[in-house]
Amino acid sequence: ISAKALTIIIVNGYKKRRESVVLRQIDESRVAKVTNTRYREHYHIQTPAGWLNDPNGLCFFKGYYHVFYQFHPYSAEWGPMHWGHVRSKDLVHWENLPVALVPGDPEDSGGCFSGSAIVKGDRLYLVYTGHHYYDDGNQDHFWENQNVAYSDDGIHFTKYAGNPVIKAPADNSQDFRDPKIWEHDGQYYLVLGSREQANNRARILLYQSSDLLNWQARGPITESQDIALEGSMWECPDFFRLNGQDIIACSPMGIKPQRHRFLNLSQAGYFVGQLDYDQAHFEHYDLHLLDYGHNFYAPQSFLTPDGRRIQLAWFSSFDKPMLEQADGWAGALTLPRELVMRGNRLGAIPAKETTRLRTGEDLNTSAIIHSPRQLAVTDPQHTEWDLTFDLTSNDGQVSWQIANSDETLVSLHYDQASGEVTVHQHNQDSDRYATIGHVHQLRARIFVDTSSVEIFLNDGVATFTERYYNDQQPVMTTVTASRPTATAIKAYTLNMKE
Ligand code: FRU
Repeated sequence: ISAKALTIIIVNGYKKRRESVVLRQIDESRVAKVTNTRYREHYHIQTPAGWLNDPNGLCFFKGYYHVFYQFHPYSAEWGPMHWGHVRSKDLVHWENLPVALVPGDPEDSGGCFSGSAIVKGDRLYLVYTGHHYYDDGNQDHFWENQNVAYSDDGIHFTKYAGNPVIKAPADNSQDFRDPKIWEHDGQYYLVLGSREQANNRARILLYQSSDLLNWQARGPITESQDIALEGSMWECPDFFRLNGQDIIACSPMGIKPQRHRFLNLSQAGYFVGQLDYDQAHFEHYDLHLLDYGHNFYAPQSFLTPDGRRIQLAWFSSFDKPMLEQADGWAGALTLPRELVMRGNRLGAIPAKETTRLRTGEDLNTSAIIHSPRQLAVTDPQHTEWDLTFDLTSNDGQVSWQIANSDETLVSLHYDQASGEVTVHQHNQDSDRYATIGHVHQLRARIFVDTSSVEIFLNDGVATFTERYYNDQQPVMTTVTASRPTATAIKAYTLNMKE
């Protein structure tokens, strides 16, 4: 009985109500196991074993930060989605908790897809998508609805007996998912990603509620005008306000590459604009990328008690194998990043708590660099770099790389004349680019973990998120400059274990 939910149908007056009296649990005997730790991260959120994709339900509740994630516990492949769960007192040291949502109830028969969290009084509410397949055995033939689950201890969750709380409107295609919830002026709102049926356009639907359980459709607040430029489905929309502007971040599918932009199979981007709550309309500027790297998708953000907007994303990999799948696990989440506005552009810096991961200082020095210089640190695959290059010329070039004796694993190159940054990753066929303009100082904060690299440039002007796989020691780190360049070099060993 432990593996199956016991469902009792109670005839309550004239109304039929279903009450889950036994919470669905995972089958421990089938859970995947990690068979090799070679690519396991040391300070990023990852599954104990099994598959991970999107971060879900980010929140602060009763003294803990909570992060949930799309989870398939039974293999290192995507499968019926559960919600994995970790919590932390400080945003960087995470504790594994029992799986929060297990699919298979009538409201989520094919999976508990992405969603978000909100705290109301003493209770934590999750709003998530129920995924359902039709009986024809075709995985591309599905329908979706929205559900609520709640918890008073932040560990054990009960699905609401009145689920689903939102059903798809008639003019919707089958894509109807990923609710992101917030409170505004005493009302609750959520946005979700939808694909309109007639023209295949991506659109964001707005819903409103006064109690989190009864939702009123307010309609589409924006939709893609040109599918090649903006996409045909915006997964994981995230609405928030930052520095007086309203922002919708989302993960568009179907955008065509535009020169050096939108080169990934699916992207993560954002619109800056203004939401008119009365008219249910979001007026906005063009779509911009959130991150310029190969592996950044499905970001979600939340507000910390001290008022920072913190975002985590999935180190996605759509068209390249994830080599850790051979070892019984797959996927990780990025470090928490603080979102910052730079004029009309959104940027990200490492959350200040990431300094708590430092277990030692390896380098704190300055040097005039003009030819490749190897930088020796204790643990090159678990190091934070803080590099400041002062370029006195107008056509200088600087770079940073980690490599083993056979190949460059990840490299960063800035060309002052073109103002362009190029990031190369050994696992990928093409490079990635960001234009940061003609600057005389370049600060690069770079977080290297066993199989990931996160690069933050000039306090949020551009970020690159990368996954890499190294099978050879030693790994060497090198910086170089085309002309003599004053370089401040700091390096810290990082580890999640205190
Ligand atoms: C994004 C996504 C979401 C969906 C979830 C399923 O990566 O496709 O739209 O809810 O993953 O795992």
